[in-house]
Amino acid sequence: MKVAVLGHGTVGSGVCEILWNRNSEISSAAGKTVELGYVLDIKDLGNVPYSDKISKDFSAVLSDPEVGIVAECIGGLEPAYSYIKSALENGKSAVTSNKELVAEKGEELLSIARAHNVNFLFEASVGGGIPLIRPLYSSMNAAGITEMAGILNGTTNYILTKMFRFGADYSEALSDAQRLGYAERDPSADVLGWDACRKISILSSLVWGKTLKPSEIPTEGIDKITADDVKIAEQSGFSIKLLARAKLLENGKIFAKVSPALVKNDSPLASVSDVFNAVLVKAETTGDVLFYGKGAGKMPTASSVIADIIECAKTDDNIKTVFWEDGAQSVFAGKDSASEKYFIRTDFDVSAVVPGAEKIAENAYITTALTESEVSVLTEKISEHGKLLSKIPLFE
Ligand code: HSE
Repeated sequence: MKVAVLGHGTVGSGVCEILWNRNSEISSAAGKTVELGYVLDIKDLGNVPYSDKISKDFSAVLSDPEVGIVAECIGGLEPAYSYIKSALENGKSAVTSNKELVAEKGEELLSIARAHNVNFLFEASVGGGIPLIRPLYSSMNAAGITEMAGILNGTTNYILTKMFRFGADYSEALSDAQRLGYAERDPSADVLGWDACRKISILSSLVWGKTLKPSEIPTEGIDKITADDVKIAEQSGFSIKLLARAKLLENGKIFAKVSPALVKNDSPLASVSDVFNAVLVKAETTGDVLFYGKGAGKMPTASSVIADIIECAKTDDNIKTVFWEDGAQSVFAGKDSASEKYFIRTDFDVSAVVPGAEKIAENAYITTALTESEVSVLTEKISEHGKLLSKIPLFE
């Protein structure tokens, strides 16, 4: 069976290298010959060992009956969406590392895959090299998952780690992450939290079976975190992490949120540093399960794409697509459906307006549990009397 790799960027080039260099392991794991058939990219690829596979013509891929799997590593919505849609409609399985595509178009593409009896798999779209999607839908599908909290963006975790460890400058740490191939083409998707938002949208839709749209998830990035926040959090026994959270409520709706959060140093998430990702999953039967590994970068992410290629080749005659549905009706529970404590920095005495707020340092407080609306009322009051310097929820 031939594989067509679309896009020869960071991830795509890793997929080609592994397919080329570890071909016998891959074929033996799949139980049939799996080989690199095409490499599509708009740019010229220079000197690669698989230069005879390079093409710029997607229609050649579609019309080649030997191509059973298309591995999309282009990123972004177009042309990735059109290519995958045509591949599935032409009876070819598709795998992707593209979280934007899966978060926005997953429901539709999964249904096309099901209708054409082929696979649409996306292990690499969340958590880079961590086996995460497959364990969640196969090993834990009856575990009764109630909650997930994840560090799902390697770039921001890398930046926050540098700020904590070395008091590094934000933009210097970001340039490092870009140089190492962790960041998105437009790094605002990383630092503003959109990438983590897409990833928690995928996990939530996968685990609870109904589309949770990224546009519904309240999302805040790390761009407002200051060296003072880092200093006070550290002195008070906390780390700051960009957390993507989703929780199944009793009414069947989902509370979800992406934001920086203060994480107590004894939480397993506090020690997740650099480009590493982790997802803490709470389930009725298993209790807490922690997934941990490299969440970005060429080879870890390519390795997850390869795992999906093997799965597609193996299940070629016995398709088991993952599935979610019901995007028409919102499953988002609303921003006030959960309360949490907040770390507030201000030059105003917060205890005067929030009974029970605890002062943890000069100009820094931890409030009692508040809903999003309650904290907005509080921050308005603060702004009337003084200056609001920071407002970050606590993860407990
Ligand atoms: N930009 C993403 C990150 C890449 O930093 O996590 C992996 O999805």
